[in-house]
Amino acid sequence: MAGNWKMYKTAGETTAFFEKILPLVALSTHCDIVIAAPFVNLPAAVAAAAGSRVEVGAQNLYWAKEGAYTGEVSGPMLSAIGCRWVIIGHSERRQYFGETEETVLKRTKAALEHGLRPIVCVGERLKERESGNTDQVLQTQFEGGIAGLSEAEFAKVTIAYEPVWAIGTGKTATPDMAADAHRFLRGLVSAKYGAEAASRTRILYGGSVKPDNVKGLMAQPEIDGALVGGASLDAASFATIVNF
Ligand code: 13P
Repeated sequence: MAGNWKMYKTAGETTAFFEKILPLVALSTHCDIVIAAPFVNLPAAVAAAAGSRVEVGAQNLYWAKEGAYTGEVSGPMLSAIGCRWVIIGHSERRQYFGETEETVLKRTKAALEHGLRPIVCVGERLKERESGNTDQVLQTQFEGGIAGLSEAEFAKVTIAYEPVWAIGTGKTATPDMAADAHRFLRGLVSAKYGAEAASRTRILYGGSVKPDNVKGLMAQPEIDGALVGGASLDAASFATIVNF
């Protein structure tokens, strides 16, 4: 169960969030719990989460180890501060910041090289769903952004299916729609990396996951977890999702 805070919260608000949520998820051993915070809040998040079951993630990274890349943050920098996960290829990065399949693959390889666990996002836009191209879009994103990984690399990857039209809109994919997309993605994994890898792969659903719809989504055997935006900003609400 992962929370993507996007560009929300200050360092002080980060610490306050962890103080509230830690007691609420202290017994939640049924899943991994990740909060992906803005870069500047990662040290506060790591400090506040110390000794708990909650791990901390970033929302992006650059693929070079270091260098003259003004404004970028690298894998070794994230690992060094105790960050363990990183979201890659989120639709907002694809839409506003020029993310492509090629850069998704580069970032994913860099994350793995530096001991970070990538959560690689895929998902179709409304126009693509309405024109019946969902599978084609997912296949292109999988083939360009993920299938270039070796078997050993892929084993450490979590996939997040986030239909763009469901993000921040309050329109959740129905559990059946989400499960169909997950099944299709798992089929792609199986064709590329084999049936065992496919059954091991965790595929998260993201897009308007809330305390009141998480149960229905998680009842689908195809859905292994959730990547939560807005509802992860409130400790009680995210704890309810974690403890669905
Ligand atoms: P919302 O849960 O706010 O729709 O955001 C989903 C998302 O983009 C998570 O990465």
